[in-house]
Amino acid sequence: MGLRSLRITNVRNIAEAVVHPGPNVNIILGENGSGKSSFLEAIYILARAESFRTRSVSEGIRFNEQELVVNGELQVSGDLDSRVGVRIRRGEKTIRIDGTESFSKARLIRLFPLQFISPMSYQVIEGSPRFRRHFMDWGVFHLEDDYRTEWKRFNRCLSQRNRLLKERSRPDLRAWDCEFVKYGTIVAGRRQDYIRKLIPYMQGIGQQMLPGKELTVDYHHGWDPRDELDIALNTASARDLRFGFSHLGPHKGDLAVKIDGRSCKAYLSRGQIKLLVLVMILAQIKLLANERNIVASLLIDDFCAELDSRNSSILKNFLSDSGLQCFITAMDRNSLGTLCGINSTLFHVERGQVKPI
Ligand SMILES: Nc1ncnc2c1ncn2[C@@H]1O[C@H](COP(=O)(O)OP(=O)(O)O)[C@@H](O)[C@H]1O
Ligand SMILES: [Mg+2]
Repeated sequence: MGLRSLRITNVRNIAEAVVHPGPNVNIILGENGSGKSSFLEAIYILARAESFRTRSVSEGIRFNEQELVVNGELQVSGDLDSRVGVRIRRGEKTIRIDGTESFSKARLIRLFPLQFISPMSYQVIEGSPRFRRHFMDWGVFHLEDDYRTEWKRFNRCLSQRNRLLKERSRPDLRAWDCEFVKYGTIVAGRRQDYIRKLIPYMQGIGQQMLPGKELTVDYHHGWDPRDELDIALNTASARDLRFGFSHLGPHKGDLAVKIDGRSCKAYLSRGQIKLLVLVMILAQIKLLANERNIVASLLIDDFCAELDSRNSSILKNFLSDSGLQCFITAMDRNSLGTLCGINSTLFHVERGQVKPI
């Protein structure tokens, strides 16, 4: 599975690039500001129709141009290929799958499962709970076909309920509470099941990368787990009305990752936290491959220089064994450490020109 070919037009400093990636490890070398992250960003845009750098993907359009386009040929399974394309104009996104316009971003995301690691990934642990909900939702979405619908229904109830709370419209609120409880319970339950499945994978990879440390995960629904959501909602309703928003529900869900029983956020070094996030993401990829036979692709931006030689060897073995397609950026071969020796397809980027080495 993965990208067989890629055409990038007007993504940041890349005016035009046609690339044929290798099926496994692709290494992209280039100096600061050459366009390495822009190259990864183009792949990310193709997979999600979003950017990992900015809230608005249109900021990635090359200066003085009207639109950016990324087209790719994807190996979906076996010999089956799909042609996908994403075109971004200001205020307009177009997704094409096999020649027809698709109005479902979910279809694109499912077709091209992709994970991303960068030096900013420490936010999965240190950042707000939103990062951890996003982490869980990526996993559940790819594992459970109905999840996207359930998640969207819950979010619709949440925004309707919050609107009514702001208007202090108590009678109308009841009508939404029922749906809120139904989909809120489903979303939280799906996340909990997912984390239960993920923990052994995290512990397995964690034992290699953070040896001698016991890794545990506490999952939080977003309300007191001793109560059903309808009871919790009832109890909180006076407060919800007073402040004009929903205090409880899966939109407040979270994870607490612990090492030797202590909160990682409070006790690990930044370096260890980054390693832990790598463990979490590799665990997700492994779980998805084992449960659904879906091999996600992986983007690793400027991350390898942060790994010591033991951990870069562990990552190297993981990448070799899993057979996944990944794209790793680095300034030069030295900063890749042990990973440098891996069997890979090499590219060089210079002033937005991407060339095979
Ligand atoms: N919208 C844009 N249009 C054109 N160039 C851009 C745009 N946004 C950023 N750049 C430039 O693109 C260059 C490449 O950036 P980047 O991909 O982050 O480099 P690298 O990851 O190799 O250090 C930078 O010089 C940056 O100033
Ligand atoms: Mg970069």
